[in-house]
Amino acid sequence: PRPILLTRHGESRDNVRGRIGGDPVLSEKGELYAKKLANFVKKRFQNERAASIWTSTLQRTILSANPIAGFPKVQWRALDEINAGVCDGMTYEEIKKNMPDEYESRKKDKLRYRYPRGESYLDVIQRLEPVIIELERQRAPVVVVSHQAVLRALYAYFADRPLKEIPHIERYKWESQGSKRKDTSSWIDPDSAQR
Ligand code: F6P
Repeated sequence: PRPILLTRHGESRDNVRGRIGGDPVLSEKGELYAKKLANFVKKRFQNERAASIWTSTLQRTILSANPIAGFPKVQWRALDEINAGVCDGMTYEEIKKNMPDEYESRKKDKLRYRYPRGESYLDVIQRLEPVIIELERQRAPVVVVSHQAVLRALYAYFADRPLKEIPHIERYKWESQGSKRKDTSSWIDPDSAQR
């Protein structure tokens, strides 16, 4: 099968502080992940000249793909992380404390909950449609370097998981499991650097 490899960006400086959203650069651990990812991709695709690397437009995915040399890279806005609107830059603790109603509504229905002036999971799923169409069209391997919410949605599509599960999919799933679709396979973790 033609592989579609899904990976999250390396750890960001905001991840370290527990802040959501933003456009941070990588932590030291994140930089290490980027190097390991590059080695992995080089080894895995040395004979596949046509493989390409897709990132979001946010620094943390672009920097994670930066050390990968010799493959074309494409930036997609549709691969950007879920927009947390007014909560962008906050920690979950801060949201719980300062906006308890928002926190509770999201907890109750994470799939449909839309951040004020931001997005819901359903919004993200909808905006991913052109990416999925393009992925399905590819004849060569693609490495997708993206974000937690987006990868949950992409993984669910390729692994045939129901909508309601999407916001709760654990990271190890897209890092280790193959696709149920015959013509593709999803995967990743160059090693367990981030866990
Ligand atoms: O914490 C990292 C992050 O990518 C945030 O930017 C984003 O809001 C969040 O994960 C999405 O995960 P969840 O839907 O579980 O809050």
